[in-house]
Amino acid sequence: MSNRFSAREISDFCLYLNREYGLSFPTARYSFVENRVEPILRDFGCSTLSDIVSKAKKDLQLRIELLNCLTTNETWFFRHPEHFKILREHILPTLLESSRQTGDNRLRIWSAGCSIGAELYSILFSILDALPDAQKLNIQLTGSDISSDAIERARSAIYGTNELKLLSEKMLARYFSKHSHNNWQVLPEYRKYCSFELLNLLDSWPARSYNIIFCRNTMIYFDESNKEKMARRFFKVLEPGGFYVTSANEMLKAGAKQDFTQVFVENEIVYRKVQQSTELQLVRFKTPTDLLRALNLLKNNGFFFQLEKIQQEHSLAPRRAIYLHKKESAKVEELFALNSIKVASSRLIVK
Ligand SMILES: C[S@@+](CC[C@H](N)C(=O)[O-])C[C@H]1O[C@@H](n2cnc3c(N)ncnc32)[C@H](O)[C@@H]1O
Repeated sequence: MSNRFSAREISDFCLYLNREYGLSFPTARYSFVENRVEPILRDFGCSTLSDIVSKAKKDLQLRIELLNCLTTNETWFFRHPEHFKILREHILPTLLESSRQTGDNRLRIWSAGCSIGAELYSILFSILDALPDAQKLNIQLTGSDISSDAIERARSAIYGTNELKLLSEKMLARYFSKHSHNNWQVLPEYRKYCSFELLNLLDSWPARSYNIIFCRNTMIYFDESNKEKMARRFFKVLEPGGFYVTSANEMLKAGAKQDFTQVFVENEIVYRKVQQSTELQLVRFKTPTDLLRALNLLKNNGFFFQLEKIQQEHSLAPRRAIYLHKKESAKVEELFALNSIKVASSRLIVK
């Protein structure tokens, strides 16, 4: 280790990195940190590491550069191919079956710690290969990372041979165009499915929910308490029945695991948010006016209901249906009939 900083200074700095960003550097990696922050000291006129800490509070650019130089963004397409096989052969069929039951055609997937995007595009290609009628689904793929350099590269969708090493010739031909010597770019018609955003996982998250979350090789350096916190937060933003895929070195420990059900498949473990099953009645209406009148009636009479987006049966049909508690549904449907509210269909769903 160099003598540029005292042991105390560097360990305090690493404590800061861990607290603010979840980045964890054991003593053996102190010289890595020193080498990486040298240019930051120079470029931002700091003489000590604590200068960096106090400047970083106010200086966004400094924070950005710090994270860009300290994060390890190594990734490649279809890294750990077993997870993509599980996605194609187990997770997607399971989710599609429940979407057939509920009529909700959204498929929202998050690659948390996506680096330069290879993971998210691998997910997209797996979906498109597995589902010939994927365009009927409302697919929303989001990648997020703490490193702005990584996000910029993900948005550019340009990859070199090293990142493409596990990609088949067939996939390369279908999804990419040649960009420059040894570089290929994902075609625009596929890029449009994926959006990328800058996010520190330790900060607050956009209010969204997902059917699948991939968070792999990202929390390896988080301490146990942050890992557990993260797993609980992932659980909260997963839709009931949703899946959480993480790498073998990030498997959940006892505390976090109790929320999830472990699914053993292809000699791997993935996690699932299995909800207490509830019997609900999904009621669709003939027209938007019928739906509106039904909603007023339900509100005025204090019945439980949940509004759900559905695939429209035709252009004049309502875009939403409602869930009722099974035990109340007979009474409610009687009320609808008494008020001449026209129901298009009504069926039992176990959610
Ligand atoms: C090794 S890459 C993993 C990429 C991909 N998930 C994979 O498995 O190939 C780890 C990524 O996690 C990101 N990362 C580390 N700490 C993070 C944090 N607190 N919030 C968001 N991203 C973080 C890094 O910037 C890096 O791009």
